[in-house]
Amino acid sequence: MNKLVAGNWKMHGLSSDLAEIKAIDDASRRYPSVDVALCVPAILIERASRAVPNFAIGGQDVHYADKGAHTGCVSAAMLVDAGAVLTIVGHSERREAQRETDAEVKAKAEAALSASLRVILCVGESLEVREAGGAVETVLAQLAASLPDHADAARLAIAYEPVWAIGTGKVPTNDEIEEMHAALRRRLIAAYGDAGRGVRILYGGSVKASNAAEIFAVPEVDGALVGGASLKAADFMPIVAAAAVGG
Ligand code: 13P
Repeated sequence: MNKLVAGNWKMHGLSSDLAEIKAIDDASRRYPSVDVALCVPAILIERASRAVPNFAIGGQDVHYADKGAHTGCVSAAMLVDAGAVLTIVGHSERREAQRETDAEVKAKAEAALSASLRVILCVGESLEVREAGGAVETVLAQLAASLPDHADAARLAIAYEPVWAIGTGKVPTNDEIEEMHAALRRRLIAAYGDAGRGVRILYGGSVKASNAAEIFAVPEVDGALVGGASLKAADFMPIVAAAAVGG
């Protein structure tokens, strides 16, 4: 199973950044054993996918409906039409700011998979939950409620992103990551049988060049979802290189 290293550009990216996407595409060719992707703002997807036609460009969210009266939203068919091959669903920033529920995240994942997109489904606990000792239980409940009923394992990835590690420079210990990823793996096997072994489990939250190798060495870490350090090829490519070594 190739590692997947996906960048989440969040609300960053203008036409002037297409050169950076091209640089990441170029440099990624040196690492054929790593699947590299960038999830960019919806409005940049078409320009990005035209600029780098053989590179995986994705969205950061998708609506669960095919079409309809949903002002400001984007459907899975629209993402595909614009050139996306994957999308993130259930990022904690959306679960929090847009009050997305597990049921909505599940419906979004199912809509995206039905449209032939690959999906990165995010889960993760708050600091309060981690400090109270309920991280694994909370994240497993989140996963159980947001996991699609049926999934082609090869097109689904789970990103474990502790909310308190996002953009903070704080990272869980290797033991904490290992414990969570092992629990997620068991839950995926319970849900999908043997196919659950083929769902990649990514770690996300303050991944950077200096900690990537250590994180990729943790059992059941099949890649990373990278925010801030994915915006520049100079910061992102060392993470991809670490995944190639670890893989
Ligand atoms: P940072 O890598 O900036 O901490 O962001 C992680 C994230 O939220 C990726 O989806």
